[in-house]
Amino acid sequence: METRILGRTGRQVGVVGLGCWQLGGGWGTVDDEQALGVLRAAVDAGVTFLDTADVYGDGRSETFIGRFLRERGREGLTVATKVGGRADRKVAEAFTADNLRAWTDRSRRNLGVDTLDLVQLHCPETAVYSTDAVFDALDDLVSSGAIAAYGVSVETVDEALTAIARPNVATVQIILNAFRLKPLDRVLPAAREAGVGIIARVPLASGLLSGKYDEHTTFAPDDHRTFNRHGEAFDVGETFSGVPYEVGVRASREVREIAGDTLTAAFALRWVIDQPGVTAVIPGASSPDQVRGNIAAAELPPLTDQQLADLERLYDERIREHVHDRW
Ligand SMILES: NC(=O)c1ccc[n+]([C@@H]2O[C@H](COP(=O)([O-])OP(=O)(O)OC[C@H]3O[C@@H](n4cnc5c(N)ncnc54)[C@H](OP(=O)(O)O)[C@@H]3O)[C@@H](O)[C@H]2O)c1
Repeated sequence: METRILGRTGRQVGVVGLGCWQLGGGWGTVDDEQALGVLRAAVDAGVTFLDTADVYGDGRSETFIGRFLRERGREGLTVATKVGGRADRKVAEAFTADNLRAWTDRSRRNLGVDTLDLVQLHCPETAVYSTDAVFDALDDLVSSGAIAAYGVSVETVDEALTAIARPNVATVQIILNAFRLKPLDRVLPAAREAGVGIIARVPLASGLLSGKYDEHTTFAPDDHRTFNRHGEAFDVGETFSGVPYEVGVRASREVREIAGDTLTAAFALRWVIDQPGVTAVIPGASSPDQVRGNIAAAELPPLTDQQLADLERLYDERIREHVHDRW
C-alpha cells in the first residue's frame, strides 16, 4: 500500500487506515470475535495505521488493540488514540496537566505500550485550541516519553486552522468526504504548508457513501445512526457527516452511478486519498469484507475529470446547503 509521512510525527503510514470506533461500541453490537476479526483482516491486508479513542466503549476499543498488539507485535504499526472525551465537559479547565497525564496513562495501560505513538485531543471546545497551558502539558508528556507526538481531532475548519498554527501539533483529524468539502478550501493547503498530517475521518459519511442504504434502512437502537440522528448525544456532524439521512440516501444513489463499475465505498475513499494534503483516510468497518473492500481504494486509479465534476455538482445541488456553513 502507498505510504505517506504522518505530518510532524515523521512516521510512515499507509493511506488507508482503520477507524476503530466500531470496535468499542456506538454502532450496534460488535462481539469480541467480530472486533478482533476486523483488526486482523485490516493488518493482514496491509493496514498500518489504526485510530481509536479512550472513550470508544470506555476503553474496549483500545483494549482490543492492546490484545492484538501483544499477539502480533507493534512492528510497522502506528496507533493513534484520543483523550479528553472522559471529561464531563471538554473545556480548557478540564485539560489540566494532571488529567492529561491520567488519561494518557490509562491509554498506555489499555494499549499495553510505554509510549503512545500519537495522542489527539478529542474534539475539545474551541477555546482549548488557544490555551497555551494545554499544549505546554502535552509538550511535557512528549519530553517524559509517555507520548511520542500529539495532534487534535476537530469539528470545525477554524479550529483546524488554529491548531495548525501551533508549532508542535503533528496532525489534525477532520471530517472530509464527498459530502464534506469545506476543509479543501483552507485547511488542507495550510496543513501542507506547515507539514501537519491530515487524518480524514468519517470518510464514508457513516456508511452513506457506500450507497447501500435506502429510505427503509433501520439501525440498532444503540447505534449512533439511530440515537444521534439529530445531535441528541454529540455533534450532529459526526453522524452521516451532518447530512439529513433522506437527503444523503438520494445523493448516495447518484454517487453510485458516478462510480460506475467501481465499488462505491472504495470509489468514495479514493476521492479522499487524492485530495492534496491528506495523509490517510480511516474508514470504520463492521466486517472483514468491508475492511478488504476499503483497502482496495489504495489500488484504484484517480477519478476521471468527469467523475470529479459530477461529484462537485452533486455537492452543490444537494449537500452544500445542509453542511457547508456549519463546520
Ligand atoms: N470525534 C472524532 O474524533 C471522531 C468521530 C467520528 C469518527 N472518528 C474516527 O473515524 C473513523 C471513521 O469514521 P466512522 O467510522 O464514524 O464513519 P465511516 O468510516 O464514514 O463509516 C463507517 C461505516 O460505513 C460502513 N462501511 C464501511 N466500509 C464499508 C464497505 N466497504 N462497504 C459498505 N459499507 C461500509 C459500515 O456501516 P455498517 O455498520 O452499516 O455496515 C461502517 O460502520 C471512526 O471509526 C473513528 O476512528 C473520530
